[in-house]
Amino acid sequence: MLTLSLFVWVSNGLSLLIVGFGKPTAANQFSENATLSLGTNGNLVLAEADGTVVWQTNTANKGVVGFKLLSNGNMVLRDSKGNFIWQSFDYPTDTLLVGQSIRVGGVTKLVSRKSAKENVDGSYSFVLEPKQWAMYHKISNSPQPVLYYSSPRQPTDYLKFICTPDTDEGFAYDLSLETSDGGSSFLARPKYNSTASFLRLGMDGNLVIYTYYDKVSWGAYEKTFSAFDRDSNWETECQLPERCGKLGVCEDNQCVACPSEKGLLGWSKSCEAKKLTSCAAKDFHYYKIEGVDHYMCKYTRGSGPVKVEDCGKKCTSDCKCLGYFYNQDTSRCWIAYDLMTLTKVSNSTHLGFIKVPNK
Ligand SMILES: *[C@@H]1O[C@H](CO)[C@@H](O)[C@H](O)[C@H]1NC(C)=O
Ligand SMILES: *[C@@H]1O[C@H](CO)[C@@H](O)[C@H](O)[C@H]1NC(C)=O
Ligand SMILES: *[C@@H]1O[C@H](CO)[C@@H](O)[C@H](O)[C@H]1NC(C)=O
Repeated sequence: MLTLSLFVWVSNGLSLLIVGFGKPTAANQFSENATLSLGTNGNLVLAEADGTVVWQTNTANKGVVGFKLLSNGNMVLRDSKGNFIWQSFDYPTDTLLVGQSIRVGGVTKLVSRKSAKENVDGSYSFVLEPKQWAMYHKISNSPQPVLYYSSPRQPTDYLKFICTPDTDEGFAYDLSLETSDGGSSFLARPKYNSTASFLRLGMDGNLVIYTYYDKVSWGAYEKTFSAFDRDSNWETECQLPERCGKLGVCEDNQCVACPSEKGLLGWSKSCEAKKLTSCAAKDFHYYKIEGVDHYMCKYTRGSGPVKVEDCGKKCTSDCKCLGYFYNQDTSRCWIAYDLMTLTKVSNSTHLGFIKVPNK
């Protein structure tokens, strides 16, 4: 019988599930006395002390003869010929370890965790699609998730998180995403052996790498990549949907204003739009903000060309619409089912209209 402390390097027992096993079905968490055991029939089961099954591999009677945790963090169940009958690397959740991939025909996306305590699907996903990789934010008000980042590229069968020495001497190591056409997308370059890294889609929708340096006794983990960051060539923090909480104008990675009918006020975490009391057109109106985009505007085309009035009508007749965004240069229109972070743009031809109750 194995105990969870085996996997201490992925930080704790809960990470064991989060890193490699899929989200547990019977419970969000398991207690300290839960045990992982490989039955004689070859099924690997995580069960509570009272026998309640938290999670299992469903590999009973498939010829499994052994279990091994490989040095790269992949946990495998092997048959007598050494073939992998089951491997944790096939079930990424919100994290990829070095060597692990998302792929066509298998798991094609990473999904964030809801919260540190609730190990269930959160609202963000990083998805391998035929012509791009894309990042989505799922919102309660709309069946369609909102695209907040995408990177067009050649079709690829997989995206694999890899670590390769940059020089023969190993002075630096490149952390990248490898594609099936032989290419790779560079992410970070720690100046030490950074094989012990993981790439994670965070609860805030950011994609980050943490790297472990085993030569030091504390502070061994450091963040070596952050996709939405002031120093990133992907995006700034302002492109993160929840950077400014429920509502805020974001500029230079910071929340600089709380929009209101009285104009732009100082921002604080309590900034939010007034709750609508009814969706009858007579019960609400809009106020206008100039020089902002909704976080969805950058990577989605919206609809149009349409007149600004028609864009407004679309929002007015849609009970779930909380506001609309309009670009006067291109006459394109975006209907917003959440507000959250609005990005400041230099051009005042980008307009935002926020729905507010009449009283
Ligand atoms: C785990 O087992 C120990 C020793 O039997 C017991 O004291 C403790 O309460 C148990 N914890 C849980 C969460 O069941
Ligand atoms: C880098 O670290 C990994 C994991 O600790 C180890 O297996 C590998 O041999 C190291 N590479 C070099 C060149 O030392
Ligand atoms: C702002 O909009 C005007 C009017 O459509 C356009 O000509 C100009 O190029 C835009 N400026 C910037 C900085 O995008």
